[in-house]
Amino acid sequence: MPLPPLRLGVNVDHVATLRNARSGERPDPVRAALLAIEAGADGITAHLREDRRHIRDSDMARLKAEISKPLNFEMAATEDMLRISLATKPHAVCLVPERREELTTEGGLDVVGQHNLLAPFIARLNDAGIRVSLFISADPPQIEMAAKLRAPVIEIHTGGWCDAVVDGHADKAEAEWQRIVEGAALARAAGLEVHAGHGLDYQTAETISALPEIAELNIGYFMMGEALFVGLGETVRQMRSAMDRGRRKVASRP
Ligand code: PXP
Repeated sequence: MPLPPLRLGVNVDHVATLRNARSGERPDPVRAALLAIEAGADGITAHLREDRRHIRDSDMARLKAEISKPLNFEMAATEDMLRISLATKPHAVCLVPERREELTTEGGLDVVGQHNLLAPFIARLNDAGIRVSLFISADPPQIEMAAKLRAPVIEIHTGGWCDAVVDGHADKAEAEWQRIVEGAALARAAGLEVHAGHGLDYQTAETISALPEIAELNIGYFMMGEALFVGLGETVRQMRSAMDRGRRKVASRP
């Protein structure tokens, strides 16, 4: 199978988190998105949460109107979000689980348990020409169900692996990594496009870029933290370089 190009989607949620700390208009997540694109991002991701804790409805509308690259609209599978996404017409919708009390998206979507709810939802987005991606853990039953549900894309939740790497839990990191490697291969064999995201930094992004099945990484929190020190443009360029280094390892394999 030919190697898919590797895209970088920059998640701007946490520019909005900072803005909302003072309830004003600055810093502006749309300005961050434009800057990230200028520096080499291939797309912009934003999560409109039910509690609107970071991205607002008006941010999504402005992102769609003002950016020149694909918009990936992350959301929970609710009727309200379906209505907003169909009106916004983003390039893609990534369906994620959502619980009010969580700090961030803590686990993957349970597509096995929720397939009855998700099937018509995915069909309506497919019919509207919006590419659907399901944010799931790299578990075979979840991957197989994602393919059955006719979602063209899955995004593998890398949070558990990244946390284990950062915390120095080598055994857990290795087990999580193997799950991702096997899951990515299974998903590709099932005809799914494979994305990955959550908790990635330069090191883990470089490592996962060496998996030939991966077509896109969506990264936010680490990059916004780095941007405080070196600027967002420089952070995007460094992330791109890390991904390119990882990708070269695929190309150089015998
Ligand atoms: N992909 C999905 C589906 C997410 O929910 C998130 C977090 O909003 C990310 C990627 C980015 O994760 P992080 O901000 O940890 O890089």
